[in-house]
Amino acid sequence: MTVDLLLGLQWGDEGKGKIVDVLTSKYDIIARFQGGPNAGHTLEFDGIKHVLRTIPSGIFHKTAINIIGNGVVIDPVVFQKELEGLEKFNMDVKSKLLISRKAHLILPTHRLLDAASEASKGKAKIGSTLKGIGPTYMDKTGRNGIRVGDIELGDFKERYRALADKHEAMIAFYDVDMQYNLQEMEAEFFEAVEVLKTLQFIDSEEYLNNAMKAGKSILAEGAQGSLLDIDFGTYPFVTSSNTTAAGACTGLGIAPNKVKDVFGIFKAYTTRVGSGPFPTELFDEDGQTMARVGNEFGAVTGRPRRCGWLDLVALKYAVQVNGVTQLFMMKGDVLSGFDTLKVCTGYKYKGEVISHLPYNIEEENVTPIFIEKKGWQADLTGMTKYDELPVELKEYIEFIEKEVEVPIKVVSVGPDRTQTILK
Ligand code: IMP
Repeated sequence: MTVDLLLGLQWGDEGKGKIVDVLTSKYDIIARFQGGPNAGHTLEFDGIKHVLRTIPSGIFHKTAINIIGNGVVIDPVVFQKELEGLEKFNMDVKSKLLISRKAHLILPTHRLLDAASEASKGKAKIGSTLKGIGPTYMDKTGRNGIRVGDIELGDFKERYRALADKHEAMIAFYDVDMQYNLQEMEAEFFEAVEVLKTLQFIDSEEYLNNAMKAGKSILAEGAQGSLLDIDFGTYPFVTSSNTTAAGACTGLGIAPNKVKDVFGIFKAYTTRVGSGPFPTELFDEDGQTMARVGNEFGAVTGRPRRCGWLDLVALKYAVQVNGVTQLFMMKGDVLSGFDTLKVCTGYKYKGEVISHLPYNIEEENVTPIFIEKKGWQADLTGMTKYDELPVELKEYIEFIEKEVEVPIKVVSVGPDRTQTILK
């Protein structure tokens, strides 16, 4: 058996959670492979809206096993709250949620370090979600991190103390004004570690490879988006993990030749939360309309998302880096009501017109080149079949497919599970 990947192709918030939730019934296992509680995967069904942070989006389906892979970073405190949030659904989370021993832990001091680092950057700040993601991955690659499996060892508290003391010295180095009560944060952390311990820890690479041998189907669920990838994103305004396809191999222990389909999720327009370049960003009423109609506020931080037109240069880049085989277009309904839509098909860069993503896409380096497409007025949210969609939307879809050279297989026309049209 093989593995399918599901990834965001823009700057995150493409609607991956909804699609994983829709697809879950086809898979035996859903596995998260990178990121941490900086993610906020929103699911809507039966009138309920729920945001998941670290737990895979397959958790609401009866039979699927959900795995938090080695590439993920876990904050026990956030995780405990996430588990508590699931209590009202009356499901047996513990029997269907397994955690890799090799996943790294976010300590309270990682969160403090994130805040200190951002505060020290002034205007150059990344716009981090401040969940401790960067410092935790720094400790991982610096070979200082603490992993889930360490909780089972006798010297967990000593390891914790040594690392936390080092972090405190680092926080002092930043010399920023920060108020915090570490003792309280630590008490909360160790209480949450006890809760984490009630879950099943596994060697997830072993588990997943055995599952494949046994004929089980696996969907790897990405977090954030390709343009936030630590290597291929708009560095340094990125997150600290590989959000692209290769991250699924290293974040789960799955060999590249086991990957079959790569589902690329993108919005019919573009959004970005946090700082960093965004060539097609809108600062006018059109952008405000997208934000309002699309309810573009961060699921984790509540920050308003920046909005802009669809950028095909960036989309092609993401499709290429990930080897996308099928595209899923989200939030088509948000574009209803615009007379004219714009799509970026190239950039003016150093006096030339280019159609690839250059090293440096800051505003002063690239100017987007737009073509115009006719908009549509119909409300899509009640539509269930591709044939019902307005002709202008079909033209928009076909134009994207031609440019990107990958078929769009799903068009989402609303946040609910049921508002999903197969093409
Ligand atoms: P961090 O990963 O929290 O350090 O944030 C780094 C950058 O990635 C910031 O610009 C965040 O706004 C952005 N980011 C992190 N996670 C997400 C996400 O799940 N959706 C959208 N943006 C994200």
